[in-house]
Amino acid sequence: MFGPKPEIKTRAQLAAMAEAGAITYAMLEACERVADVGVSTAEIDAVAEAVCREAGGRPNFKGYQGFPATVCISVNDEIVHGIPSPDRVLADGDVVSVDGGCTVSGPGNRRWHSDSARTFIVGEPRPVDVELVEVTLESMWRGIAALAGASRVGVVGRAVEAVVSQRPVDGRELGIVEEFVGHGIGSTLHQPPDVRNFVTRDRGARLRSGMALCVEPLLTLGEPDNDTLDDGWTVCTLDGSRAAHFEHTVALWEGGLRILTLPDGGAAELAALGVPLADLNA
Ligand code: MF3
Ligand code: CO
Ligand code: CO
Repeated sequence: MFGPKPEIKTRAQLAAMAEAGAITYAMLEACERVADVGVSTAEIDAVAEAVCREAGGRPNFKGYQGFPATVCISVNDEIVHGIPSPDRVLADGDVVSVDGGCTVSGPGNRRWHSDSARTFIVGEPRPVDVELVEVTLESMWRGIAALAGASRVGVVGRAVEAVVSQRPVDGRELGIVEEFVGHGIGSTLHQPPDVRNFVTRDRGARLRSGMALCVEPLLTLGEPDNDTLDDGWTVCTLDGSRAAHFEHTVALWEGGLRILTLPDGGAAELAALGVPLADLNA
Protein backbone atom coordinates (compact mmCIF):
# COMPACT_ATOMS: atom_id res chain seq x y z
CA MET A 1 0.00 0.00 0.00
CA PHE A 2 2.68 2.50 1.01
CA GLY A 3 5.54 1.60 -1.31
CA PRO A 4 9.00 3.20 -1.18
CA LYS A 5 9.05 6.85 -2.19
CA PRO A 6 9.58 7.58 -5.89
CA GLU A 7 12.62 9.65 -6.89
CA ILE A 8 11.45 13.14 -7.87
CA LYS A 9 13.72 14.67 -10.51
CA THR A 10 14.65 18.29 -11.09
CA ARG A 11 14.37 19.86 -14.52
CA ALA A 12 18.14 19.52 -14.97
CA GLN A 13 18.08 15.87 -14.00
CA LEU A 14 15.27 15.17 -16.48
CA ALA A 15 17.28 17.05 -19.12
CA ALA A 16 20.22 14.72 -18.48
CA MET A 17 17.88 11.76 -18.85
CA ALA A 18 16.71 13.22 -22.16
CA GLU A 19 20.36 13.26 -23.33
CA ALA A 20 20.64 9.59 -22.40
CA GLY A 21 17.28 8.99 -24.07
CA ALA A 22 18.39 10.55 -27.35
CA ILE A 23 21.37 8.18 -27.40
CA THR A 24 19.10 5.24 -26.64
CA TYR A 25 16.86 6.30 -29.53
CA ALA A 26 19.88 6.36 -31.86
CA MET A 27 20.90 2.90 -30.61
CA LEU A 28 17.48 1.40 -31.36
CA GLU A 29 17.28 3.14 -34.75
CA ALA A 30 20.64 1.62 -35.68
CA CYS A 31 19.55 -1.81 -34.44
CA GLU A 32 16.40 -1.73 -36.55
CA ARG A 33 18.36 -0.52 -39.60
CA VAL A 34 20.97 -3.29 -39.41
CA ALA A 35 18.56 -6.10 -38.46
CA ASP A 36 17.69 -8.30 -41.43
CA VAL A 37 17.31 -11.90 -42.47
CA GLY A 38 20.74 -13.54 -42.08
CA VAL A 39 22.01 -11.07 -39.45
CA SER A 40 22.83 -12.43 -35.98
CA THR A 41 21.56 -10.84 -32.79
CA ALA A 42 25.19 -10.47 -31.63
CA GLU A 43 25.91 -8.30 -34.69
CA ILE A 44 22.96 -6.09 -33.77
CA ASP A 45 24.21 -5.80 -30.19
CA ALA A 46 27.65 -4.73 -31.40
CA VAL A 47 26.07 -1.93 -33.44
CA ALA A 48 24.08 -0.77 -30.40
CA GLU A 49 27.20 -0.64 -28.24
CA ALA A 50 29.22 1.25 -30.88
CA VAL A 51 26.49 3.86 -31.37
CA CYS A 52 26.13 4.27 -27.61
CA ARG A 53 29.82 4.77 -26.89
CA GLU A 54 30.44 7.02 -29.90
CA ALA A 55 27.67 9.29 -28.65
CA GLY A 56 29.26 9.45 -25.19
CA GLY A 57 26.80 7.12 -23.46
CA ARG A 58 27.47 4.09 -21.33
CA PRO A 59 25.37 0.93 -21.73
CA ASN A 60 23.33 0.38 -18.57
CA PHE A 61 22.19 -3.19 -19.17
CA LYS A 62 25.72 -4.61 -19.50
CA GLY A 63 26.68 -5.97 -16.10
CA TYR A 64 23.22 -5.27 -14.66
CA GLN A 65 22.68 -8.32 -12.46
CA GLY A 66 25.27 -9.93 -14.73
CA PHE A 67 23.51 -9.30 -18.05
CA PRO A 68 26.25 -9.77 -20.69
CA ALA A 69 25.24 -7.39 -23.52
CA THR A 70 24.24 -3.83 -24.40
CA VAL A 71 20.73 -4.68 -25.57
CA CYS A 72 18.23 -7.45 -24.97
CA ILE A 73 17.06 -9.04 -28.22
CA SER A 74 14.02 -11.30 -27.97
CA VAL A 75 12.86 -13.18 -31.08
CA ASN A 76 9.40 -14.69 -31.75
CA ASP A 77 8.30 -16.67 -28.66
CA GLU A 78 10.97 -14.95 -26.60
CA ILE A 79 9.13 -12.25 -24.67
CA VAL A 80 11.92 -10.26 -23.05
CA HIS A 81 15.57 -10.32 -21.85
CA GLY A 82 16.92 -12.36 -24.80
CA ILE A 83 20.73 -12.51 -24.84
CA PRO A 84 22.34 -11.52 -28.16
CA SER A 85 24.24 -14.42 -29.71
CA PRO A 86 26.27 -15.07 -32.89
CA ASP A 87 24.29 -18.32 -33.18
CA ARG A 88 20.92 -16.57 -33.29
CA VAL A 89 20.61 -15.64 -36.96
CA LEU A 90 17.41 -13.86 -37.93
CA ALA A 91 15.09 -15.69 -40.36
CA ASP A 92 12.33 -14.56 -42.71
CA GLY A 93 9.32 -13.22 -40.81
CA ASP A 94 10.98 -13.15 -37.39
CA VAL A 95 9.43 -10.83 -34.80
CA VAL A 96 12.36 -9.03 -33.15
CA SER A 97 12.17 -7.01 -29.94
CA VAL A 98 15.17 -4.85 -29.07
CA ASP A 99 15.36 -3.31 -25.60
CA GLY A 100 18.22 -0.92 -24.88
CA GLY A 101 19.38 1.83 -22.62
CA CYS A 102 22.30 3.89 -21.46
CA THR A 103 23.45 6.47 -18.96
CA VAL A 104 25.11 9.86 -19.23
CA SER A 105 26.79 11.84 -16.47
CA GLY A 106 24.63 14.63 -15.09
CA PRO A 107 23.72 16.71 -12.04
CA GLY A 108 25.31 15.65 -8.78
CA ASN A 109 28.04 13.78 -10.63
CA ARG A 110 25.54 10.96 -10.94
CA ARG A 111 24.68 8.91 -13.97
CA TRP A 112 21.17 9.29 -15.39
CA HIS A 113 19.37 6.41 -17.07
CA SER A 114 17.20 5.79 -20.12
CA ASP A 115 15.43 2.62 -21.26
CA SER A 116 13.41 1.96 -24.43
CA ALA A 117 12.24 -0.97 -26.54
CA ARG A 118 10.67 -1.56 -29.91
CA THR A 119 9.52 -4.55 -31.94
CA PHE A 120 9.79 -5.01 -35.72
CA ILE A 121 9.60 -7.82 -38.24
CA VAL A 122 12.39 -8.82 -40.61
CA GLY A 123 11.66 -10.19 -44.10
CA GLU A 124 8.10 -11.09 -45.09
CA PRO A 125 5.76 -10.60 -42.12
CA ARG A 126 2.83 -12.81 -41.16
CA PRO A 127 -0.33 -10.64 -40.99
CA VAL A 128 -1.07 -11.70 -37.40
CA ASP A 129 2.41 -10.61 -36.35
CA VAL A 130 1.87 -7.19 -37.91
CA GLU A 131 -1.28 -6.86 -35.82
CA LEU A 132 0.51 -8.06 -32.68
CA VAL A 133 3.11 -5.33 -33.16
CA GLU A 134 0.50 -2.64 -33.94
CA VAL A 135 -1.69 -3.42 -30.94
CA THR A 136 1.30 -3.53 -28.59
CA LEU A 137 2.50 -0.15 -29.88
CA GLU A 138 -0.98 1.31 -29.50
CA SER A 139 -1.26 -0.05 -25.95
CA MET A 140 2.02 1.62 -25.01
CA TRP A 141 0.87 4.98 -26.36
CA ARG A 142 -2.55 4.76 -24.70
CA GLY A 143 -0.82 3.81 -21.46
CA ILE A 144 1.50 6.80 -21.75
CA ALA A 145 -1.33 9.20 -22.64
CA ALA A 146 -3.33 8.04 -19.63
CA LEU A 147 -0.60 9.43 -17.34
CA ALA A 148 -1.33 13.02 -18.37
CA GLY A 149 -3.35 14.66 -15.65
CA ALA A 150 -3.90 11.38 -13.79
CA SER A 151 -3.43 11.03 -10.04
CA ARG A 152 -2.37 7.36 -9.86
CA VAL A 153 -0.12 5.15 -11.98
CA GLY A 154 -2.82 2.47 -12.22
CA VAL A 155 -4.34 4.37 -15.17
CA VAL A 156 -1.67 2.76 -17.37
CA GLY A 157 -2.92 -0.78 -16.75
CA ARG A 158 -6.50 0.29 -17.39
CA ALA A 159 -5.50 1.85 -20.73
CA VAL A 160 -3.45 -1.18 -21.84
CA GLU A 161 -6.32 -3.53 -20.97
CA ALA A 162 -8.76 -1.33 -22.89
CA VAL A 163 -6.66 -1.49 -26.07
CA VAL A 164 -6.24 -5.25 -25.74
CA SER A 165 -9.98 -5.81 -25.34
CA GLN A 166 -10.83 -3.42 -28.20
CA ARG A 167 -8.37 -4.97 -30.65
CA PRO A 168 -8.59 -8.76 -30.76
CA VAL A 169 -6.22 -10.41 -33.25
CA ASP A 170 -7.51 -13.38 -35.24
CA GLY A 171 -10.67 -13.36 -33.10
CA ARG A 172 -8.95 -13.53 -29.71
CA GLU A 173 -7.54 -11.09 -27.20
CA LEU A 174 -3.79 -10.78 -26.93
CA GLY A 175 -2.24 -11.99 -23.68
CA ILE A 176 -0.87 -9.46 -21.19
CA VAL A 177 2.31 -10.62 -19.46
CA GLU A 178 2.04 -9.81 -15.76
CA GLU A 179 5.41 -10.96 -14.39
CA PHE A 180 7.32 -8.05 -15.97
CA VAL A 181 6.15 -4.49 -15.47
CA GLY A 182 7.23 -0.92 -16.15
CA HIS A 183 9.05 1.03 -13.49
CA GLY A 184 10.38 4.30 -12.24
CA ILE A 185 13.77 5.32 -13.64
CA GLY A 186 16.32 8.04 -12.91
CA SER A 187 19.62 7.72 -11.06
CA THR A 188 19.02 3.95 -11.26
CA LEU A 189 17.58 1.79 -14.07
CA HIS A 190 14.78 0.27 -12.00
CA GLN A 191 13.14 2.08 -9.11
CA PRO A 192 9.65 2.49 -7.67
CA PRO A 193 6.88 2.71 -8.61
CA ASP A 194 5.80 -0.39 -10.56
CA VAL A 195 3.93 0.49 -13.75
CA ARG A 196 1.59 -2.43 -14.30
CA ASN A 197 0.01 -3.31 -17.64
CA PHE A 198 -3.14 -4.67 -16.02
CA VAL A 199 -5.71 -3.50 -13.48
CA THR A 200 -5.30 -4.36 -9.82
CA ARG A 201 -7.32 -3.59 -6.68
CA ASP A 202 -5.09 -0.74 -5.65
CA ARG A 203 -4.72 2.21 -7.97
CA GLY A 204 -0.95 2.33 -7.64
CA ALA A 205 1.49 5.04 -6.66
CA ARG A 206 0.50 8.70 -6.66
CA LEU A 207 1.78 10.64 -9.71
CA ARG A 208 3.76 13.86 -9.33
CA SER A 209 5.64 16.31 -11.53
CA GLY A 210 9.30 15.28 -11.61
CA MET A 211 8.66 11.55 -11.89
CA ALA A 212 10.08 9.52 -14.77
CA LEU A 213 8.41 6.24 -15.69
CA CYS A 214 9.07 3.43 -18.15
CA VAL A 215 5.83 2.31 -19.79
CA GLU A 216 6.42 -1.08 -21.39
CA PRO A 217 3.59 -3.45 -22.27
CA LEU A 218 4.48 -7.04 -23.21
CA LEU A 219 1.73 -8.72 -25.24
CA THR A 220 1.46 -12.23 -26.69
CA LEU A 221 -0.52 -13.77 -29.56
CA GLY A 222 -1.51 -16.67 -27.29
CA GLU A 223 -1.43 -17.23 -23.54
CA PRO A 224 0.85 -14.90 -21.56
CA ASP A 225 2.20 -17.72 -19.35
CA ASN A 226 5.98 -17.85 -19.53
CA ASP A 227 9.18 -19.36 -18.20
CA THR A 228 12.85 -18.37 -18.07
CA LEU A 229 15.31 -20.48 -20.04
CA ASP A 230 18.35 -22.17 -18.48
CA ASP A 231 20.48 -19.19 -19.56
CA GLY A 232 18.86 -17.43 -16.59
CA TRP A 233 17.55 -14.54 -18.71
CA THR A 234 15.49 -15.35 -21.80
CA VAL A 235 11.77 -15.36 -21.01
CA CYS A 236 9.64 -17.42 -23.43
CA THR A 237 5.93 -18.09 -23.80
CA LEU A 238 4.96 -21.59 -22.66
CA ASP A 239 2.65 -22.10 -25.65
CA GLY A 240 5.24 -20.92 -28.20
CA SER A 241 3.16 -17.91 -29.22
CA ARG A 242 4.96 -14.79 -30.37
CA ALA A 243 5.34 -11.67 -28.26
CA ALA A 244 5.92 -7.95 -28.76
CA HIS A 245 7.35 -5.24 -26.50
CA PHE A 246 7.45 -1.46 -26.74
CA GLU A 247 8.88 0.89 -24.12
CA HIS A 248 9.56 4.56 -23.63
CA THR A 249 10.99 6.55 -20.73
CA VAL A 250 8.41 9.25 -19.95
CA ALA A 251 8.84 12.39 -17.82
CA LEU A 252 5.93 13.96 -15.95
CA TRP A 253 6.56 17.70 -15.81
CA GLU A 254 4.22 20.54 -14.90
CA GLY A 255 1.06 18.83 -16.09
CA GLY A 256 2.51 17.65 -19.39
CA LEU A 257 4.58 14.69 -20.58
CA ARG A 258 7.84 14.40 -22.43
CA ILE A 259 9.08 11.19 -24.07
CA LEU A 260 12.73 11.19 -23.02
CA THR A 261 13.59 8.37 -25.46
CA LEU A 262 12.42 10.27 -28.55
CA PRO A 263 14.66 13.08 -29.80
CA ASP A 264 11.81 15.61 -30.08
CA GLY A 265 10.10 14.55 -26.86
CA GLY A 266 7.34 12.78 -28.79
CA ALA A 267 5.74 16.05 -29.93
CA ALA A 268 3.72 14.56 -32.81
CA GLU A 269 2.60 11.43 -30.99
CA LEU A 270 1.55 13.34 -27.86
CA ALA A 271 -0.28 15.98 -29.93
CA ALA A 272 -2.24 13.23 -31.68
CA LEU A 273 -3.26 11.92 -28.26
CA GLY A 274 -4.22 15.39 -27.00
CA VAL A 275 -1.44 15.39 -24.39
CA PRO A 276 0.48 18.60 -23.58
CA LEU A 277 4.19 18.38 -24.36
CA ALA A 278 6.35 19.33 -21.38
CA ASP A 279 9.26 21.68 -22.04
CA LEU A 280 12.40 20.97 -20.00
CA ASN A 281 14.26 24.08 -21.20
CA ALA A 282 11.70 26.73 -20.29
N1 MF3 B 1 15.35 -2.93 -20.05
C1 MF3 B 1 14.66 -3.90 -19.28
C2 MF3 B 1 13.45 -3.17 -18.78
O1 MF3 B 1 12.77 -2.67 -19.62
C3 MF3 B 1 15.53 -4.50 -18.21
C4 MF3 B 1 16.73 -5.13 -18.74
S1 MF3 B 1 17.53 -5.90 -17.49
C5 MF3 B 1 18.96 -6.33 -18.21
O2 MF3 B 1 13.19 -2.94 -17.64
F1 MF3 B 1 19.66 -6.86 -17.29
F2 MF3 B 1 18.71 -7.13 -19.19
F3 MF3 B 1 19.54 -5.30 -18.65
CO1 CO C 1 13.77 -1.85 -21.23
CO1 CO D 1 12.23 -0.93 -18.56
